[in-house]
Amino acid sequence: MNPQVDKSVITTTVTLVAALVLLAVVLFMAAALVGVVDNVAPDDGSRKQSAVLERIKPVARVSFEQPKPVVAVQLSGKQVYDKVCAACHAAGTLGAPKTGDKAQWEPRFAQGLDTLVTHATNGIRAMPAKGGDPSLTEANIKDSIVYLLEETGIKAEAK
Ligand code: HEC
Repeated sequence: MNPQVDKSVITTTVTLVAALVLLAVVLFMAAALVGVVDNVAPDDGSRKQSAVLERIKPVARVSFEQPKPVVAVQLSGKQVYDKVCAACHAAGTLGAPKTGDKAQWEPRFAQGLDTLVTHATNGIRAMPAKGGDPSLTEANIKDSIVYLLEETGIKAEAK
């Protein structure tokens, strides 16, 4: 082959390829533009943001939370009393009958332990339900009342 012809063939081929690539690019851009104009509604950015958050969200989470109710059941009467009831009953706050004051507790105990448990569980006048700690069980309440009464010198029935 003659080098002159050779060169012109190459030039033609390069030009053709370049033209095709350019055409493809232009078509692609036009298609993308049409697609953008057609499909995407005016966006405040939230869609994109939520998509990003969805993409980068962690695969799993490590939780250090403790299972709760089981712990509450295992508290002793004294523990519940110290944690919750003592806040009022130790000093007679809000007019609560004081722990250790037999004269105050005897008429209350005369109602029966079950009634005291019901009143302490549901609340009575200034006494909040469960002493204000809804995580306590009725058994917690009963145990703490038995403890409170024993501290007062009143022998409540065995648990
Ligand atoms: C926010 C203060 C407060 C806390 C905390 C509290 N009490 Fe009381 N409690 C009172 C008051 C005030 C009364 C008196 C209510 C009345 O008879 O007017 C009372 C009364 C009682 C009575 C007598 C109810 C009756 O029928 O006479 C019992 C029993 C009792 N509390 C148990 C408990 C126990 C058990 C706890 C802990 C789990 C507790 N209380 C925590 C304020 C409190």
